[in-house]
Amino acid sequence: MSLLNNPFDPAREAALVTGAGNGIGRAIAQALVGEGVRTVFADISEERVVAAIKASPRPELAVPWVGDLANAAARETLLKDAQSAVGRVTHFVHSASPPRREADHAMAVSTEIWAQMHAVNLEAGFHLSRELARGLIAAKQPGSFLLLTSLHSGTPRNLPHYSTAKAGMAMLVKELAKTFGRYGIRVNALVPGAIAAGGFVADPSLAKHIPLGRLGEAGDLAPLALAVLSNRVSAYVTGSAITIDGGLSLTNWFEPPELGEI
Ligand SMILES: NC(=O)c1ccc[n+]([C@@H]2O[C@H](COP(=O)([O-])OP(=O)(O)OC[C@H]3O[C@@H](n4cnc5c(N)ncnc54)[C@H](O)[C@@H]3O)[C@@H](O)[C@H]2O)c1
Repeated sequence: MSLLNNPFDPAREAALVTGAGNGIGRAIAQALVGEGVRTVFADISEERVVAAIKASPRPELAVPWVGDLANAAARETLLKDAQSAVGRVTHFVHSASPPRREADHAMAVSTEIWAQMHAVNLEAGFHLSRELARGLIAAKQPGSFLLLTSLHSGTPRNLPHYSTAKAGMAMLVKELAKTFGRYGIRVNALVPGAIAAGGFVADPSLAKHIPLGRLGEAGDLAPLALAVLSNRVSAYVTGSAITIDGGLSLTNWFEPPELGEI
């Protein structure tokens, strides 16, 4: 018997993916419906959600939701709408994030942009995780949550609103994994490197710093995301930060060694 058959149980499991309109969230949401899991595609952009669902392998399993996750009332609405559309959400992916703009360095970033970055990444991540966990605990059902952090949860990015939000999320994953573990709810972080998706304006010259020799694509992340989300594949994984970066985080001021003839 293959170990990786049927990673999900579509009769009992349903998913909510934020940021599902573009990039990494879109790739993960599309992969979930491809596995037969009913999935809420949540995003601030209606146009993106519609296009993401249209391009999905099984669009009939996808539910669109449009709203601003920086807004607390919208987050409440999302929780209610998701419950009515797919029943109890067992698998939650938090990929929504406002765009990063290089101009928003420490001396320039506005109070509004700072607050919005934290609200969408950290506050929405906390609030949605906690409320989804509340429902799962009451129903005595296991769950699996995956929050998209960044290599910049640990190293500066010249965008302090972004790196501090991601650092907060990295600790949130550990806090929630520790608190919810006894209820069979696993919480993990997926830590992408340089992925040529919407949120990162790819400079192709970056590839020379990446041991695998290329920037990542959103599609590179979906298989690993599904593996970590699956309670069958990753039953004993919680509180982990799983890096997927082609080796970018190994880069420092030492070049790889000259190997001569091999
Ligand atoms: N692309 C990378 O290289 C990279 C690297 C490290 C971490 N990440 C993280 O991975 C996640 C996805 O990144 P991406 O590059 O795919 O981003 P993206 O910009 O392509 O997609 C983010 C999605 O979030 C949505 N969104 C933005 N603000 C929102 C709001 N207020 N409410 C609801 N939805 C909102 C956008 O409309 C968009 O569809 C982000 O959390 C990002 O920080 C990405």
